[in-house]
Amino acid sequence: MKKQIIGIMGAMPEEIAGMAADFTQGSTLRIERGQRVYDRGIMSDRDVVLVYTRCGKVAAATTAAHLIIEFGVTEILFTGVAGAADPALRVGDVVIGSAYYQHDMDARPLFARHEIPLLGTDRFLADPVRVKTAMQASTRFLASREGSNSRVVAGAIASGDKFFACRSELDELRSRIPEVACVEMEGAAVAQVCHEYGIPLTVIRTISDSADEQSPVDFATFIQEVASAYSRGIVRELLSC
Ligand code: ADE
Repeated sequence: MKKQIIGIMGAMPEEIAGMAADFTQGSTLRIERGQRVYDRGIMSDRDVVLVYTRCGKVAAATTAAHLIIEFGVTEILFTGVAGAADPALRVGDVVIGSAYYQHDMDARPLFARHEIPLLGTDRFLADPVRVKTAMQASTRFLASREGSNSRVVAGAIASGDKFFACRSELDELRSRIPEVACVEMEGAAVAQVCHEYGIPLTVIRTISDSADEQSPVDFATFIQEVASAYSRGIVRELLSC
């Protein structure tokens, strides 16, 4: 059987901060490639490679391809923050991706809006078993935080090279993709790479802001003060399943 190796990715350093301390004996291999630093080691008895990609679809897709080709990862876990698109979601809630859209893909009139040219689909679907496992791990993490009334939901994630900071732009996106739960800048790009290489992906996003005029301030505060604790705690729970 092929050796199981999990690629753990975040977009920004803050989204994976502290996780390296969870390597059982420290990072056993540190390699720099294409201006990314890849740390390999053991976490909760699992073989993992940890990296931050920087923001956006190109940065995330190239890093995912690199994890698969050079490190032979058999599964990817992407963790970080997102802006809420579903008005019921609050800062601190956790979204597990069940479907991934590239909201800025528009090759009309050659292909339908959002359709990935020559792939014949406008979305990538997550493995329902992995979604359930990630929801359970996130729920356990939130339960361990005193006073937390945050929720965990499974939902569609819309990714694109855009930071949403305007209510009317978010409303326009929601009119195009009504089921969207949250917006971020990497998940659906990694989902396309994973689809093309035939490996599973789980995306776990904590809501940092409401993707409106207030989002630059809320995002910065959440990233600095909270994001790493969420990512680290949820990944720890997930790896110990
Ligand atoms: N990631 C976190 N908040 C976001 C937002 N408002 N837009 C895009 N990506 C985000």
